[in-house]
This record gives sequence, C-alpha cells and structure tokens, in this order.
Amino acid sequence: MPIKRIAVIGAGQMGAGIAHICAQANYEVLLQDKNESALTKGITTIEQSLTRAVQKERITEIEKERTLANITTTASLSEITEVDLAIEAVIEQLDVKQNIFASLDEQLHDKAILATNTSALPITEIASATTRPEKVIGMHFMNPVPVMRLVEIIRAIQTDDATYETVVSVTKQLHKTAVTVKDFPGFVSNRVLMPLINEAIFTVYEGIATIEDVDAVMKLGMNHPMGPLQLADFIGLDTCLYIMEVLYEGFNDPKYRPCPLLRQYVQAGWYGRKSGRGFYTYT
Ligand code: 3HC
Repeated sequence: MPIKRIAVIGAGQMGAGIAHICAQANYEVLLQDKNESALTKGITTIEQSLTRAVQKERITEIEKERTLANITTTASLSEITEVDLAIEAVIEQLDVKQNIFASLDEQLHDKAILATNTSALPITEIASATTRPEKVIGMHFMNPVPVMRLVEIIRAIQTDDATYETVVSVTKQLHKTAVTVKDFPGFVSNRVLMPLINEAIFTVYEGIATIEDVDAVMKLGMNHPMGPLQLADFIGLDTCLYIMEVLYEGFNDPKYRPCPLLRQYVQAGWYGRKSGRGFYTYT
C-alpha cells in the first residue's frame, strides 16, 4: 500500500526526530503530543536542526521550508484519522502504548499500519491490543534520529509480509538502513548495547577505573564515538535501567542484572543529560 500521510505520536526527542526525517523525505506528517509545550519544543528542535543543515550547505533554505511545511501538529489523538502509517514514540509503558494503539485501531482506515518505536517492549503484546495485529510492527529508530542510519524493524509474531515490506520500503525512503529482527527482549540493538553499558557501570561501581577512564578505554581503544557512560547519559539512565530490567525479566537470566549503582543514580533523579546530571554533569 502506498504511504502518503504519516502520524507520529509523541513529540519528545525520538518523536521529533522521526517527524523531521519523514517530513524531509516528503511525507505529510501529523505530529501529535497531548502536551502542547512538548509539541512546541519538538518543532523548535526540528527547526534548529534544519537551520544547522542549511548553514552546512547540506540542504537549501527551500528544502528547510518545504520540510517544515510538511508538518502539522495536534494535541488531540482523536484528530489522527486520515493517515496510512502511525509511528508511536511515547513513554515506555505497555498500558499507555496499548491504549494508544487501541484508539488508532478504531480511528484509522483498515489498511493503515501501526508501528511502535519501543526500545524493548514486546511488539506482539502491543499488537494484541488491536483488531489488526497483522498490521502492527516495530520501527526502532536510534538517537539522534537524523544522524543514525539504522532502523531496526521488529516483526511481531502476528505481522504479515505486506506490512513488513511496506515498512522496509518507507525506511529506504527515509534514507535509513532497515535491519530485520525477531520480537525478543531488547531485540538486537539493546540486547547487545545495554549489557555493555551495564558492565561499564559495574567497573566504576567496583572501583576498577574512573568514569572518564572507562570511557577513554572504549573511545580510544575501540573507536566508539562515545564512551559507554557518556552514551548512557545521552540515552537516559532511567531508560538504560528500564531496558536492563526488561532483559533480566524477559530472559530470567542473572547475567542481565542491573548494576546497583545504575539503580541508585536513577533513584537520585540523576537521569543523565536530560536532568543535568548522570555520570557527568551538564549545564
Ligand atoms: N540532531 C541532528 N543532528 C545532530 C544531532 C541531533 N540531535 N546531534 C549531532 N548531530 C550532527 C551534528 O550536527 C554533526 O553534523 P555534521 O557532521 O554535519 O557536522 C554530526 O551529527 C556530528 O555531531 P558533533 O560534531 O556535534 O558531535 P560528534 O561527532 O560527537 O557526534 C553523535 C555526535 C552523532 C551523537 C556521536 O557521538 C555518536 O554517534 N554517538 C553515539 C550515538 C549512539 O550510539 N546512538 C544510539 C543510542 S541507542 C538508541 O538510540 C536505542 C535506544 O533504544 C536506547
């Protein structure tokens, strides 16, 4: 089915990034967030990112204006009706996502595809909240969305081939590379990345090296663009803990136990960049 109009639900860091690249690829985008200030912030982030791209002569001023003109916003979920693909990027809570999917299922035409950007929740369980589970799929974008080339495509056990093929084709239109994985805890990205971050936190917790030195080992020794602790702050320590818990519970395997230091930082409200303090402090 040809995709023309895309709804993005949630205008946070990921939702704004997804709306940005969809609009730049010339899809009509409806960006929804129940919080008006989140919508304003999301649009401002997109504008700033496009302005940077114009300054670097990556895009023209006309392309910037065209991209912005492709985006409309709404605070009301019930206004999402005439779209062919909805990409949800809200808080990582199963009941919240399932409620949104149930509403979209009622409101959208019966060929519309429902995708989630969840970093770890089971797509199969989200799909089961709808009457069209075969049209539900995971599109896991990486942060920062405009820069990172990957979209992890996660097929729920119910997802049909037509939905999968359409979503792979949209991913190509977005100039991203689709990698297909099955719906198991953490998919591939977070199943591999989060234990690495968790182990880096253990090395600090056990006093083996300083925060800066753990990051230096991975940046200088392995050519990672960011050290694991810097990356954990970038992703959000609350998100890292949440994903470790999904892995721990999902596989019932102690190798995924979250580091107590990670838990303590989250208890302190030290979430990383977004709260101004994590392993590093931010002004
Ligand atoms: N939006 C748009 N563009 C951005 C951006 C943003 N938020 N942040 C950086 N950029 C652009 C910059 O404008 C710059 O563009 P240029 O090459 O045209 O000059 C380019 O990215 C590089 O940025 P900087 O020079 O400022 O800084 P760095 O070279 O350090 O790169 C980085 C920044 C791209 C974030 C790099 O450090 C990196 O790749 N880090 C790792 C990110 C990563 O691993 N992401 C995945 C996280 S896991 C995930 O998302 C899954 C989830 O489920 C947890």
